[in-house]
Amino acid sequence: MAVLRVLGIMGSPRPGGNTDLLLDAALKGAEGQGARVEKVMVDRLNISPCREHYGCLDDGLCVIRDDMDALYPRLLESDCVLVASPIFFYGLTAQLKALIDRCQALWARKHVLKQSWPGAGRKGAFLGVGASTGGQLFDGSITTVRYFFKTIGVEYSGELLVRGVDRQGDVLRHPSALPDAFELGARLARRDPAGGLTETGPTGQSRGGKESMTHHLEKSARALETALQMEAEGKKFYLEAAARGGTPVLVKFFQRLAADEDQHAARAREIYDAIKASQGWPEKETTFKHATTLKSVLDEAFEDMDADPAKPSEAELEAFKNAMAMEDRSYTFDKARLEEAGSTHEKSFYKALTGEERMHYLALLDSYEYLSNPQGWFSRTERWGLDG
Ligand SMILES: Cc1cc2nc3c(=O)[nH]c(=O)nc-3n(C[C@H](O)[C@H](O)[C@H](O)COP(=O)(O)O)c2cc1C
Repeated sequence: MAVLRVLGIMGSPRPGGNTDLLLDAALKGAEGQGARVEKVMVDRLNISPCREHYGCLDDGLCVIRDDMDALYPRLLESDCVLVASPIFFYGLTAQLKALIDRCQALWARKHVLKQSWPGAGRKGAFLGVGASTGGQLFDGSITTVRYFFKTIGVEYSGELLVRGVDRQGDVLRHPSALPDAFELGARLARRDPAGGLTETGPTGQSRGGKESMTHHLEKSARALETALQMEAEGKKFYLEAAARGGTPVLVKFFQRLAADEDQHAARAREIYDAIKASQGWPEKETTFKHATTLKSVLDEAFEDMDADPAKPSEAELEAFKNAMAMEDRSYTFDKARLEEAGSTHEKSFYKALTGEERMHYLALLDSYEYLSNPQGWFSRTERWGLDG
């Protein structure tokens, strides 16, 4: 089967901002399903607004020569298109709107020149972010994106609308946005009918209604696929952080975290295989064993630290911040699964997993505080409440 091509259109002028982070998560989700993803940073392209020359009415080609030349074929050939934009004055950004307006040439091909292009069954989704929480915040943009998709022959198959994020990186602190984006990207790329391409709300909650047992198990299996993907990414991240070397305690700490991710993945894989073999969710409690607790790894290392510990590098501190964000994303994803869990054993799995993710997060936070401010850290008497 041909590899699915997913095109992500990043409409914000702020690289590394909320839209960018959200789109990256969705593209990662798609990538995890084996799709080939490409991200286009619209603000970096030279795209003129439409000038109404109307040359396109004659031959379907825009008379303006700029970066749209290279983009038209990608818009028509991609199997999935993800449009991501912040809300600027209740609409899409001007950069993205210029790109969309230039698709009038494609509209002319379709509606005036009656041309067609291959691509039935192509899917698209909209990712929007905005600072306010108003109910109508995304209405105008949704209409524009829907009409854009219709013009390029893509079905509007899902959306993720995140309110209340404003400053750069606010979306990292949102309780569910990134896992939801990851899941949306994964669903978009999966294409199985049960996976569907339904609307995704910002809360990640299911949309209610009674589910059949089979449907619930299918959903559980898909959630486990995402969880497995997250665990694999976590392990890779920690092993890479450990392989970079540096402060020995941190290397040991990251190796320990990687081993934990392995343990979680092994249990998730066991359950996944049982569901796939039509055995249902295994009737077994989930607990995770710890050869050494995270606390003892750190205690051992910090015990002899004097008032002048080796200063960690910026890269090490950055790795801690990224690791915390990663643990938080997994926690949010698995917490939502815990709330939706059907059986006691499913609950037990997600309870154990979220417990671990919280523990990792707190251990990382504690270490980060220690590394960035050892004096302040030592002055606190009570350090941990994690492993008890
Ligand atoms: C020019 C401009 C206009 C904006 N207009 C709105 C608006 O109408 N409603 C809103 O909720 N937020 C508005 N915002 C805030 C952005 O949507 C918000 O900061 C968003 O998180 C930025 O996403 P980014 O980090 O991906 O660029 C505006 C921001 C700018 C710079």
